[in-house]
Amino acid sequence: MRIFLTSSKDEAWDIASARIIDTAFEGMKLGVATGSTPLGLYARLRQAHAEGRFSLAGSSAWALDEYVGLAEDHPEGYRNVLRAELVGPDKTGLAEEDLHTPDGSATDLEAAATAYEEAIGSVDMQILGIGGDGHIGFNMPSGSLASTTHVGTLTQETREANARFFSGDVSSVPEKCLTQGLATIMRAKEIILLAFGREKARAVAELIEGPVSAFWPATVLQHHPRVTILADELAASELTMIDYYRAKNDW
Ligand code: PGA
Repeated sequence: MRIFLTSSKDEAWDIASARIIDTAFEGMKLGVATGSTPLGLYARLRQAHAEGRFSLAGSSAWALDEYVGLAEDHPEGYRNVLRAELVGPDKTGLAEEDLHTPDGSATDLEAAATAYEEAIGSVDMQILGIGGDGHIGFNMPSGSLASTTHVGTLTQETREANARFFSGDVSSVPEKCLTQGLATIMRAKEIILLAFGREKARAVAELIEGPVSAFWPATVLQHHPRVTILADELAASELTMIDYYRAKNDW
C-alpha cells in the first residue's frame, strides 16, 4: 500500500486528480464513488475538462453502488448524483450512456446484480471513500471478502450517516442497495482511497495496520497490489506507525 498523509482535503484531492488526469486514456473505465469524500476530486476533474486537460468523452464511469427503491428522479439516487457531477460537455465530457450504475429499480434485483457484475469486468482506476465502520461501496461489516455484485442491507449506522443527504430523516434512507462486492472492487487495476475526518480514523487504522477481516471490509485491500491511501491528519490519527508514514509519504 502507498500511504500519503495530507495536511488537508484539498491536498488529497489535488494528488488524486493529478494521478487520474495523468493516467487517463480514451476508453478508460473509471470506477466512481459517491458520498461527500470525492466531491472535491470531481470538481478538479471538471476544472481540468474546462481547461482542455482531461476528458471522459469516449470513456466510461462505473458506480460502486445504488440504493434500492428510490424514485428514478430522486436527487440522492446515485445515478442522479453522478450524472450531476460528471455527465455532459459542461462537466467531464462523459456521455449519459457511458455512466453505468446498478439498476436499483429493477423488479428482479438479483438479475440486475448479475448483469452489473458481468458488464463491469474490471475498471482501470477505482476511486473509493470509506465508512466509519470500514465499509467500501456498500459492503457492510461481516459480508464475504469474496463477494461479487449483490443486493445488500445497510446498517443502521450507515443509514444514520447518510441521513444528512435526506434532510436528516433516517427513515427516508433506503434499507437495501445494490453494491459491487469486494471481489468486484479488487479487480480494479488501480485504487485510490480517500479518507477525511476523525470519524474515519479507526477504519483507516484497521485498513492499514489491522488484520484482514470481513468485519473491517476495507482491509481486503491489503491484498491488492496497487492501492494508494490518501488520508488527512484526523483520519490518520489512530495509526500506530504514523511517523514512519509521514517520513516516507510515498506518492
Ligand atoms: P462519505 O461516505 O464520503 O460521505 O464520508 C463514505 C462511505 O460511506 O463510503
